[in-house]
Amino acid sequence: MKNPTIASRPWSLLLAGMVALVLAFPCMQALAQDEDADEDESSEAIELEEEDLACLECHDDPTLETKLESGETLSLHISTKDFLGSMHNENSCADCHYEIDIEDHGQGQSTITSKRELGVSMADACVDCHKKKYKEYNDSVHALLIEEGSKKAPMCADCHNPHTVKSWEIAGPEEAMPCGKCHEDIFKASAKDVHGLARNDKENPGPLCSGCHKAHGVKAASLGSGIRDTCLDCHKDAAEKHKVWLPNSERHFEAISCPVCHAPNAQRRVNLRLYDGAGADKQQMLEKTGVPQFIKRAKAADADEAGLDDRELLGLMKEFTKDVGVGKTVVRGRLEVSSGVDAHQLADKSKAISDCKTCHQSGAEPFQSVILTMAGPDGRPLRHEVKKEVLNSLFSIDSVKGFYVLGSTRIKLLDYLLVLVVVGMAGGLLVHITARWLFRRAREKRAAQARRDSGSQ
Ligand code: HEC
Ligand code: HEC
Ligand code: HEC
Ligand code: HEC
Ligand code: HEC
Ligand code: HEC
Ligand code: HEC
Ligand code: HEC
Ligand code: HEC
Repeated sequence: MKNPTIASRPWSLLLAGMVALVLAFPCMQALAQDEDADEDESSEAIELEEEDLACLECHDDPTLETKLESGETLSLHISTKDFLGSMHNENSCADCHYEIDIEDHGQGQSTITSKRELGVSMADACVDCHKKKYKEYNDSVHALLIEEGSKKAPMCADCHNPHTVKSWEIAGPEEAMPCGKCHEDIFKASAKDVHGLARNDKENPGPLCSGCHKAHGVKAASLGSGIRDTCLDCHKDAAEKHKVWLPNSERHFEAISCPVCHAPNAQRRVNLRLYDGAGADKQQMLEKTGVPQFIKRAKAADADEAGLDDRELLGLMKEFTKDVGVGKTVVRGRLEVSSGVDAHQLADKSKAISDCKTCHQSGAEPFQSVILTMAGPDGRPLRHEVKKEVLNSLFSIDSVKGFYVLGSTRIKLLDYLLVLVVVGMAGGLLVHITARWLFRRAREKRAAQARRDSGSQ
């Protein structure tokens, strides 16, 4: 309130400034002493070696930076305080930077051309001390991507700043999960879904990214059944609970990815995955590193580029069968959501899909979009569009068997009806719906011929 008066008289402003300074001085001294005390304390516990202090003499300078050939500016500042507070405070700079020769270092002769190159050149720095993590990481989709030449997939230091790393146990959930840097859309979606909202629950916290994908051994998400099994590890009673209302829930769990029913607003589709048909436990086919074939062949097969039709699909599968030599290449269908964001918008159970008709009726939404995939060398799917009519074509029974067995064998049909009866769910409507779906192929053929509406039978 006094400010206007002071400001109007310059000399009193000066005086006030001097008084403030005098008053502030002891405080500043006290502050400085505090800092000293802090430093004393930490340096009592951990002392940096002389060599490290020598590095920091130049590098603990916030303005130290260098312009790289790539055009990026690399800050070279390493804060002594942060380093002392990090989990690596008992390490020496040279433990990781063993290639630096102090004699001819820091002369503006850096050979580093980009940030990425620096990361790559340091990629092995963590092996010696963290062998287990390194091994897990080496099998991950991220490591495979780097092997394939990805310039974006993370190495250790992209997820952990080696100079400031704190124990992840004391970091907050978001801070501890570096995935958002690169998977931003998914990160945002995931924060708002049923697990994200339970993230900070003390008793029963919802999983963060690594709770479902692991942190180091991250695998391609749609490969195999790893993620589903992880869901069931936490939700131990889920399988039992579905059985109560969902006949043959095991088969449903095989053929439908969990978010299909649990992300109610998601777009859905049929993914026909290529399997090696030889042997009893059919394996999902992986493309060999360095021998890209799927995309090439699929494009060649799909002459009009309008998506594979039944003949084209069959032809393509015969080609793959020739490679395998023994057995047959088959496809197995799987219902899944169409995007990564959709997979991370799980809602609470009251919103989950329980209506059989969502899938078991002719023209059902999830069957309107079909895609053929083969797992690439890193496990991520290589994709090609397929015409949805393939699912109804008698011609493709052979190719899409694993999935569309439903309408294709009578014995199976009896099984389904039996299951329904046994489970006590064979209400007239249900049988009707299921029968409609099972018979759809035949029905549609007949309908086409006789223009008779067999749906009302
Ligand atoms: C005389 C000051 C000085 C000292 C001492 C010094 N550095 Fe540097 N350092 C630099 C400068 C300047 C750069 C920028 C690149 C250049 O000019 O060579 C740099 C760059 C780096 C880089 C970036 C990669 C590269 O090679 O360009 C790393 C890592 C690094 N220093 C680590 C260290 C370590 C570890 C020590 C102690 C063993 C150390 N520095 C000691 C000045 C110094
Ligand atoms: C635990 C291993 C480790 C230790 C200990 C370590 N560094 Fe590093 N340092 C790295 C890695 C890995 C990178 C590359 C980071 C990246 O890819 O962004 C790096 C990068 C740097 C850079 C380049 C700028 C930057 O931040 O990327 C400088 C400068 C540097 N370190 C200096 C030091 C100094 C000085 C010390 C000791 C006080 C030290 N480092 C201790 C692993 C380490
Ligand atoms: C994609 C991100 C990512 C990459 C890459 C990554 N980490 Fe991690 N790391 C994490 C996360 C997240 C955690 C937190 C704990 C967890 O969820 O397992 C973690 C935890 C750790 C821990 C503490 C684990 C514990 O149980 O105490 C160590 C040590 C570690 N990482 C080392 C490494 C090393 C070494 C590499 C490279 C070989 C690496 N990390 C690569 C994300 C990553
Ligand atoms: C010379 C050995 C050494 C090297 C090299 C090294 N670390 Fe560490 N690291 C340690 C030690 C020791 C700890 C503290 C472990 C502890 O107390 O549990 C640690 C802790 C960590 C933690 C925190 C673990 C936790 O409990 O949350 C992470 C993350 C980590 N290191 C990542 C890295 C990364 C990334 C690299 C490579 C850039 C690396 N380390 C290189 C020795 C090393
Ligand atoms: C509740 C378990 C769960 C959590 C938590 C989770 N995910 Fe996922 N994630 C999934 C499922 C399920 C899929 C789809 C797998 C499939 O196709 O069947 C998926 C797919 C993905 C994909 C592949 C997307 C694509 O384009 O196909 C990425 C990338 C991914 N997640 C990253 C993340 C990140 C980053 C986080 C943290 C923000 C995260 N996930 C958290 C379960 C989870
Ligand atoms: C430095 C960037 C970066 C970070 C950090 C990162 N990723 Fe990735 N990740 C990528 C890139 C690039 C790909 C390949 C392209 C894609 O699928 O988006 C990828 C791919 C994936 C895939 C396979 C996608 C598929 O199609 O199946 C999953 C799953 C995944 N990341 C999960 C994670 C999780 C979980 C974390 C955190 C623990 C994480 N990522 C951290 C860059 C990153
Ligand atoms: C065919 C659709 C469908 C599929 C596939 C499906 N769910 Fe469900 N799920 C539901 C419905 C509907 C409910 C709600 C049932 C109720 O309210 O009793 C539910 C309930 C749940 C619940 C809550 C159970 C409880 O009552 O506490 C969990 C957890 C769950 N599902 C997990 C999963 C997992 C994990 C998968 C994949 C392995 C999966 N679901 C696949 C439809 C499905
Ligand atoms: C690390 C443990 C963990 C994993 C892994 C996990 N969840 Fe959950 N899930 C939770 C927790 C905790 C909650 C919130 C509390 C609750 O409702 O049980 C939850 C809630 C849910 C709900 C809402 C249940 C309700 O009562 O409304 C569904 C549905 C669900 N999860 C499905 C899945 C699916 C699908 C996966 C795999 C993609 C999965 N969960 C993976 C721990 C987990
Ligand atoms: C999200 C889509 C979806 C929903 C919802 C759904 N199903 Fe299914 N159902 C499928 C798929 C996909 C298959 C597996 C086809 C295959 O691979 O053989 C299947 C298979 C079946 C089978 C045959 C199982 C076997 O023995 O092979 C029966 C019976 C069945 N469903 C009944 C029902 C009933 C009853 C409901 C409602 C309570 C229901 N389904 C809800 C998609 C669904």
